[in-house]
Amino acid sequence: MTTEHPNSPQGYKTPVGILGVGHFVPDEVLTNAELAKFVDTTDEWIVGRTGIRARRRAAPDQATSDLAIEAGRRALEAAGTRPEDLDLIIVATMTPDCPMPATSSIVQHKLGATRAGGFDLNIACSGFVYALITGAQFVASGTYQRVLVIGADCMTRLMNWKDRSTCVLFGDGAGAVVLGPVASGYGMLGIHTGVNGAGGPSLTVNAGGSRMPSWSEGVKPSDFYLQMEGPEVFRFAVSVMGEAALKALDNGGLTPEQVSLFIPHQANARIIEASRKRLNLPPARVFSNVENYGNTSCGSVPLALSEALQQGRIQDRDLIVLVGFGGGLSWASAAIRWGGQPGSG
Ligand code: UT7
Repeated sequence: MTTEHPNSPQGYKTPVGILGVGHFVPDEVLTNAELAKFVDTTDEWIVGRTGIRARRRAAPDQATSDLAIEAGRRALEAAGTRPEDLDLIIVATMTPDCPMPATSSIVQHKLGATRAGGFDLNIACSGFVYALITGAQFVASGTYQRVLVIGADCMTRLMNWKDRSTCVLFGDGAGAVVLGPVASGYGMLGIHTGVNGAGGPSLTVNAGGSRMPSWSEGVKPSDFYLQMEGPEVFRFAVSVMGEAALKALDNGGLTPEQVSLFIPHQANARIIEASRKRLNLPPARVFSNVENYGNTSCGSVPLALSEALQQGRIQDRDLIVLVGFGGGLSWASAAIRWGGQPGSG
């Protein structure tokens, strides 16, 4: 017989929450002024249109797994969890080290997570929140006790440094959380996911997959770069971000007034501001670090969560809402009551 968690409309058997968080970014800081030296742009344009002032760039010998492993290690430490106690590792990424092996396999090996299964999840920038929701199901069902969920991307590897409409927007970074059972009334209270595949062509990397392999006739270097219909994606993002937050809240029987901190995907300060207004939240209840990192895709939401915690912006029993959106076009959201970790009283 199963007992339903009273606050869980998903019918979770076990309340599931975040036990520890960590993040990692590469050392190199690429400012707007530095970008303006080799691409036709200005600090004024970038800050005015996006709020971004700098982004991080991985070193030539760094790949996504290197960022993911360090973020994962830090999350494990924060959770007081040993790698060998992990049951599962999910790595959300759209820039895996290579098509095979999966980045999660590399992470599993290098972390020494000897008992863990693992897989990669790719739904572009929405990946981390999707992976969080996916990982939570294993804990909620009572199948697993400890799941490491990592969001990591080296987006600078997909940039055409001559395309000013994209290369100023993205950066590299990773964040991670450890999921596990929490006390009743805490943890994941409401979730929502969505995809509108009809909008897929507005945000693409065309080559490198089965439709256009690297060796196919006529393939051009530009086919490997990220291409985006910026204004179209902007309109999508503005309409979906607030709605996705509302749906996760509604799914948990909650309202925006109860939200302590909204942690949206960090793509553009104007998109974040529009969703803040949609949710009618005061600026103090919205977290943003897009200024320092740009859009780190799957790294964005956990990196923001990690810095929000470091800055003391999240307290026990706070209701936080995470929202991701991106290529697909896709989105996912989760409402989480913070705290209730084992030993937290
Ligand atoms: O996680 C993935 C999700 N992606 C996003 O969330 C991105 C969503 N889109 C956006 O954030 C915005 O659409 C952008 C920031 C990409 C662009 O802002 P915009 O206000 O939509 O500008 P625009 O694309 O309409 O371009 C306006 C002008 C154009 O010049 P003209 O044609 O008006 O003369 C562009 O060529 O700005 C020009 N422009 C630039 N100028 C200086 C575009 N990029 C730059 C640049 N520097 N970097």
